Amino acid sequence: MTNRRPIVAGNWKMNGLRGSKAEIEALIAALSARPANACDVVIAPPFTLVADFSSTCASSPVEIAGQDCSALAPGAHTGDVAASMLADAGATAVIVGHSERRQDHRETDEDVNAKALAAYEAGLTTIICVGETEPERDRGATLDVVNGQLAGSLPDSADSSNTVVAYEPVWAIGTGRTPTADDVAKVHATMRETLVARFGDEVGNGFRLLYGGSVKPANAAELMGVADVDGALVGGASLKAVDFDGIIDAYR
Ligand code: PGA
Repeated sequence: MTNRRPIVAGNWKMNGLRGSKAEIEALIAALSARPANACDVVIAPPFTLVADFSSTCASSPVEIAGQDCSALAPGAHTGDVAASMLADAGATAVIVGHSERRQDHRETDEDVNAKALAAYEAGLTTIICVGETEPERDRGATLDVVNGQLAGSLPDSADSSNTVVAYEPVWAIGTGRTPTADDVAKVHATMRETLVARFGDEVGNGFRLLYGGSVKPANAAELMGVADVDGALVGGASLKAVDFDGIIDAYR
């Protein structure tokens, strides 16, 4: 039996100004009011806020992540941010392969794999996202799509110390719709089997598998209670400390 410490991670997407630091301060205050934190807590603000939030969170349980990184080393790549720059700004983690990156920027599994390798090189915990679209779900292809993305997006050097996997059905992101607990259980059990088959028992069972897509305080306990769900990746409900703290409550 592997003991996996849960993670509740918030993805702010393209939201947040310098004044939003008040939400981070409120989150730190809420966490410090708890007797003990039973999960890791991560916030991924936009790049512009990574350094500032990292200093705000320095002596708190909140870790700061990037929402993406370049696969390339620093150099002539206008608009890109290297993984090593995120680490230098105080981030300890990075999200790669979010469906909005896959869709808006046509990122492929190969791109995601290369970004993950760059993140490992920079010492960042890498949250690799996978998940099916609605048409894929409707034609019963969910498990094939997820397995294909896992195969392509996770480097061979992935292990539980450098990688967290987030299952995010694309149709559940920002829609208020979620899969049933049974559906989530099926996908997470399949991901676990696939990871054990590829990486072996010890490494495969060590990966933390997050669920993401319309997680809210009202559904967090049910979704986080599903077997092989080791935490949440939260979009909209991570923007307000009170809502995010209400999700962390699932691990009180
Ligand atoms: P949501 O986003 O919680 O707003 O559905 C989830 C995500 O994209 O990580």
